[in-house]
Amino acid sequence: MSQPSERRAKTAEELQGIYAEMASTFDRFEAVDRLLVGPHRRRLFSRAEGQVLDVACGTGINFPYLADGVDLVGIDLSPAMLASARDRTRTLGVDADLRQADAADLPFDDDAFDAVISSLSTCTFPDPVAVLREMDRVCAPDGRILLLEHGRSSVGPVARFQDWWAPRHFERHGCRWNQDPADVVAEAGLEATEVRRSLLGILTSMVVRPTAAEP
Ligand SMILES: C[S@@+](CC[C@H](N)C(=O)[O-])C[C@H]1O[C@@H](n2cnc3c(N)ncnc32)[C@H](O)[C@@H]1O
Repeated sequence: MSQPSERRAKTAEELQGIYAEMASTFDRFEAVDRLLVGPHRRRLFSRAEGQVLDVACGTGINFPYLADGVDLVGIDLSPAMLASARDRTRTLGVDADLRQADAADLPFDDDAFDAVISSLSTCTFPDPVAVLREMDRVCAPDGRILLLEHGRSSVGPVARFQDWWAPRHFERHGCRWNQDPADVVAEAGLEATEVRRSLLGILTSMVVRPTAAEP
């Protein structure tokens, strides 16, 4: 079985193709996400304050869970996902600066954000370690990086199914669904100060300390 890190990374063009097809699926299955993942999104992302960057914001599914009054910037590689996110800001009546950008090369100054958030995306980034280092760079030293990620289950049979299906899942969706997101954070040289697993250990919420933070 190939390990998650051994598979050839998808190119930006391949990912844009995948998400051009999947954007409407995300909208259709939003009720399921709200039920299963929504409480975790709310618990974690309602802690974001001030200038907030949502990295790989997708269809903007995190936006309803953010506190009132945050200054929101969202980036994503996929024009189709961003189009849904723009619709959502209109429906919610929130102001947001949404841009197409590569998460591994964020178009922002160092320390620009009080909170950098991201959900269900380190599995898809071609170079997740580079993205985490970019999140760290743009996060203020007294800010925080909030990650809600999915990965290999802590329940044996579920994990074995994920391992068995992982090559096909990656081929189709560009998603390494049996990686451990906490390993990726550690590989980027970052420290998670809070780690919380849920949904059979598939979902991991993490609060990550910027490397420039006071000890
Ligand atoms: C599984 S979706 C998650 C979207 C959303 N955050 C959520 O919770 O539903 C993964 C997202 O990552 C985006 N993405 C993948 N690689 C990216 C990159 N290098 N830079 C920016 N966005 C990227 C995709 O376009 C897609 O919107």
